[in-house]
Amino acid sequence: MGKFEVLDHPLIQHKLTIIRNRDTGTKVFREVVNEISTLMAYEVSRDMPLEDVEVTTPIEKTVKKQLTGKKVAIVPIIRAGLGMVDGFLNLIPAAKVGHIGMYRDEKTLKPVEYFVKMPADIDQRQIFVVDPMLATGGSAIMAIDALKHRGAHNFKFMCLVAAPEGVKALQKAHPDVDIYTAALDEKLNKDGYIMPGLGDAGDRLFGTK
Ligand code: PRP
Ligand code: URA
Repeated sequence: MGKFEVLDHPLIQHKLTIIRNRDTGTKVFREVVNEISTLMAYEVSRDMPLEDVEVTTPIEKTVKKQLTGKKVAIVPIIRAGLGMVDGFLNLIPAAKVGHIGMYRDEKTLKPVEYFVKMPADIDQRQIFVVDPMLATGGSAIMAIDALKHRGAHNFKFMCLVAAPEGVKALQKAHPDVDIYTAALDEKLNKDGYIMPGLGDAGDRLFGTK
């Protein structure tokens, strides 16, 4: 089974409370999602591989560490996942970005895929799938299915708020995937929204409704 981790650094918890507040408007919501994503990127990149490199300081030659340059891709699930991309790129600017478009049918709650555009070498990359919400898990499962279908095999999934139902479903469908969330909430309501959650992440990010 992959890892499941709640990244509950005090700064992340504080910022998450700001975006949960229904009175937080689009501008601040977007800025804070960006900040949380940077903090999460810092946490999830802890196990990035390093190699030895010779460096000459003003004093002497020494051998120190640098990233091996293993290829990375960030894959936001459109729309709401887009809000997490820039925060991630703040720390890993050389990452490629693949996009996967998916929306939940409001009646069935089943995800519908409408767009996929990946870097050509996606099968060789460490992939960070990002979406603020893991509710039933349907969207994340289908996104990872679509990536596996293209040969990808090395995944971490990052969200801001997860429901226990979604975590369970994603772990069952893709036991190889590590899951990182800023919060594990209580449950889903009858409309498939996370309680207490933060509402509809896409609408709050983009000012739609
Ligand atoms: C939201 C969210 C996830 C999905 C989570 O997207 O961004 O992609 O719901 O729900 P699930 O775990 O039950 O699949 P939504 O379908 O509202 O589309 P949007 O991002 O375009 O608003
Ligand atoms: N999608 C959202 O944007 N919010 C939820 O609470 C559940 C699914």
